[in-house]
Amino acid sequence: MAFVLAHLSDPHLAPLPDPRWSELCNKRLTGYFNWQRNRRFIHDRAVLDTLVADLKAQKPDHLACTGDIANIALPEEFARGRAWLEALGTPEHVSLVPGNHDAYVRGALNEAQRQWGAYMTGDDGGGFPYLRRRGPLALIGLSTAVPTAWGLAMGGLGRRQLDAFAKLMETLKGEDAFRLVLIHHPPASQARWHKRLIDRGALKRVIAAHGADLLLHGHDHLAMLNWLDGPAGTRVPAVGVPSASGAPGHAKNAAAYNLYRIDGTRGAWNCEMLSRGVDAGGEVKELKTMMLLR
Ligand SMILES: [Fe+2]
Ligand SMILES: [Fe+2]
Repeated sequence: MAFVLAHLSDPHLAPLPDPRWSELCNKRLTGYFNWQRNRRFIHDRAVLDTLVADLKAQKPDHLACTGDIANIALPEEFARGRAWLEALGTPEHVSLVPGNHDAYVRGALNEAQRQWGAYMTGDDGGGFPYLRRRGPLALIGLSTAVPTAWGLAMGGLGRRQLDAFAKLMETLKGEDAFRLVLIHHPPASQARWHKRLIDRGALKRVIAAHGADLLLHGHDHLAMLNWLDGPAGTRVPAVGVPSASGAPGHAKNAAAYNLYRIDGTRGAWNCEMLSRGVDAGGEVKELKTMMLLR
């Protein structure tokens, strides 16, 4: 029987808690005004709840969330994020990687680790890059979340994480496991420079050398599919989902999630992707189905 994985991203939990003025004496100030001016119309909690209810009704075997649970990383956002994660499922059932909004200011990542750590820890208790095994999957979680200056939304993996990732992929190469990479920032994107993954070239070189079966990301808030080069002429699908709270008529792409049905064995994986999303009337409908690997 196929293993079913669900992927959602960028819930950007609304509404934003009321900040204290002392909490806005940094990059949060611009983020706060941006939320009041724009983002509060885009990220809708009711839309998110409708989407998650539909996702849970599909009874996936595992669920991946690729970050941006928070908006401006207020302490209260991490507590709310934890409640949201717990409602989504247990750490056994849900894997998380953080986004740039979860690392919005210095110290935020520590709070994310404290509140959400159980969802972003490897089976051996280790941090990024973590390895979790669920069914046929070897889930590799990467963190691109780094605090950046005002107006920037870049991500970075760093040399240490890239080296550990390469080593991990090398080890997994010989195993009969479906290698699934979770990352917030896309390795391939049309976004402007200040929103991109700084060391995407190095990430793509690791994948070109060692391969992967599927890479899932968020961040651009768009339904995306790019093919990365793998070893010996193979190609690796990199798939992004829209924000899970994107209100129809306001968001770039209205809220959606993807389901992957995975079966097969090493070198002969089948992976079918099914997208479900919110339509103009707020109902969740099937958007498309496609065979990614066969
Ligand atoms: Fe986001
Ligand atoms: Fe992001």
